Amino acid sequence: MSERADVQIRGAGIGLRSQHQQEIIDRQPSVPWFEVLSENYYGAGGTALAKLEKVRNLYPITLHGVGMSLGSTDPLNFEYLARLKSLADRFEPEWVSDHLAWISVGGEYVHDLLPLPCTQEALDHVVARIDQVQDFLGRRILIENPSTYLSYTDAEMPEWEFFREVAELSDCDILFDVNNAYVNASNHGFAATSYLDALPLARVREIHLAGFAQLDSYLFDTHGDRIHPPVWELYQLTIQRTGPVPTLIEWDTNIPDLGVLVAEAEKAQAQLDAVSCSA
Ligand SMILES: [Fe+2]
Repeated sequence: MSERADVQIRGAGIGLRSQHQQEIIDRQPSVPWFEVLSENYYGAGGTALAKLEKVRNLYPITLHGVGMSLGSTDPLNFEYLARLKSLADRFEPEWVSDHLAWISVGGEYVHDLLPLPCTQEALDHVVARIDQVQDFLGRRILIENPSTYLSYTDAEMPEWEFFREVAELSDCDILFDVNNAYVNASNHGFAATSYLDALPLARVREIHLAGFAQLDSYLFDTHGDRIHPPVWELYQLTIQRTGPVPTLIEWDTNIPDLGVLVAEAEKAQAQLDAVSCSA
């Protein structure tokens, strides 16, 4: 992979959602960048792409997806990757990201990001596929740690170690979802800071923050609420170690007014500023 280009994205951004797009174009809120869900634009018509172009002319963007199915044993979907590449060529995102997960088997797709067994065999498999994707796209990608609700009895290493090995061996960068780490720690009974101790911090290029829901016996990563206090605390611990890494407010269900998202981003920005000042 080529060396990282100068990063233009700084500060706390927001996920671009269709219901906010016109307001963003009209009002141009003081948000440093937006994360765009790549699959939303694969079959998009001219109007949607024209709107995205307007946003892109005003702000830096990143492309984030759920469809690479990097952990699957299905062949890589090069039609999907070609669409992603063409979107990236047109809109020049700062980077492209997806998840350390699988979403298909036997050509059948599910709507959940399913975790990999943390085994050497799975590690070799997913590293080889990330290599192929990075070669095809001609860029280093960011891989995100997913939220999980199951684990495998034949796991050979903890999830944070597996995640670290994936990043190191495939020479990809990391999108560290602090909320996902907190949710998993709570659901599976480990210290969320295990991730911080394991991560190759220089590879952490982006952080996600989101809200979860407390269900009967577990936490569910809904992306549908304000960020919870313990996730803010874990975020603070994270950026104390990584420095002021670009951070995204993810909100995908029960999407509120744009002002609510901007306010959450401002809270994250205040924490980033505090870290910058103390550096
Ligand atoms: Fe995320």
